[in-house]
Amino acid sequence: MDAGMDSPVRLERLEHVVVLTIDRPKALNALDAATLRALDAAIDQVGDARAVVLTGGGEKAFVAGADIAAMSTLSPMEAATFAGLGQRVFDKLEALPMPVIAAVNGFALGGGCELALACDLVLAAPNAVFGQPEVKLGVIPGFGGTQRLVRRVGSMRARELVYTGRNVKAEEAVAIGLALRVVTEGTVKDAALALANQIAAQGPVAVRLAKRAILDGDGADLRVGLAGERTLFGLCFATADQKEGMAAFLGKRAPGFTGA
Ligand code: CAA
Repeated sequence: MDAGMDSPVRLERLEHVVVLTIDRPKALNALDAATLRALDAAIDQVGDARAVVLTGGGEKAFVAGADIAAMSTLSPMEAATFAGLGQRVFDKLEALPMPVIAAVNGFALGGGCELALACDLVLAAPNAVFGQPEVKLGVIPGFGGTQRLVRRVGSMRARELVYTGRNVKAEEAVAIGLALRVVTEGTVKDAALALANQIAAQGPVAVRLAKRAILDGDGADLRVGLAGERTLFGLCFATADQKEGMAAFLGKRAPGFTGA
C-alpha cells in the first residue's frame, strides 16, 4: 500500500519538511499490518526533506497502539511476525537520515509510545498520554518498547512503566525525558513544524551527519562512538556547506546553505 489518497498514512510535502499523518481516527490511529505497511511506503517517499514531522489524524490520538482487534487471534508465529513488521518499520523511521519530530496530539500508548520513541524529538500536546499498557492485555511491548524506552528514560523508570502499564501525562513525560516539552493546546503540529523549520535552516548535511553520529554511538562503546564522531566531523569538511558556513561567520553575514 502506498501513501496515496486511500492510505491510512498521509504525506504532505512542504518546502523542506515532510509531514506524515497516521490517519485512522476511528480506531484512534491503531497500527494494523496495513497501516504499518503504509507507514513503510510513506517513509520511502520522504526523499531529501531536511526534517520530518509525524503526527496522528483526528483530535484524540497520536497512535493508541498496535491494533488489538487484529492481534487478538494471532498464533505465536504470526504474533512474532507482526512484531517483526512493526520493529522493521520503526527501525527504518529511526534510521531516516534527517531528524524526525513526533507531534503527540493525544494518546501515545503501546505501539504509539514505541513510535514516539523511534523519533528524534517528541513534542507533547497538553492532552498527550504516553504509556506501555501491554501487560494489561497479557502481552509485552513488541515494537521496541522494552529496548528504546530503557535507552530514553533509563532502566528503572522504564521497568516501572512496562511492569505497571500506567499512563504518563504530558508534564511527567517531559520530566522523565519521554517528551521534550508540552506546547499550548491546539498547537502541537505547528510547534513541530516550527522546530522542523528551525532544523531545516541549519547546514543540512551537518544535521544529517550529527544524527548519524548520535545514532551510531547509541549503545556503542564510548571510544567507538568518539571514533565515528571524528570521522564524520572530517567528512563535513568535504561539503560546500562547511565552506559556506565558516565563510559566512568570518564575513559577518548569514549563511546560504545548499545541502551540498
Ligand atoms: N487497537 C484497536 N482499536 C483501538 C485501539 C487499539 N489499540 N485503541 C482504540 N481503539 C478503538 C476502540 O476499540 C474504539 O473502537 P469502536 O468505536 O469501534 O468501539 C475506538 O478506537 C475509540 O476508542 P475508545 O472508545 O476506547 O476511546 P476512549 O476515549 O474511551 O479510550 C483509550 C481511549 C484509553 C486510548 C482506549 O481506546 C484504549 O485503552 N486503547 C487501547 C490502548 C492500548 O492498550 N494500547 C496498546 C496496544 S498493544 C501494543 O501496542 C502492543 C505492541 O507494543 C506491539
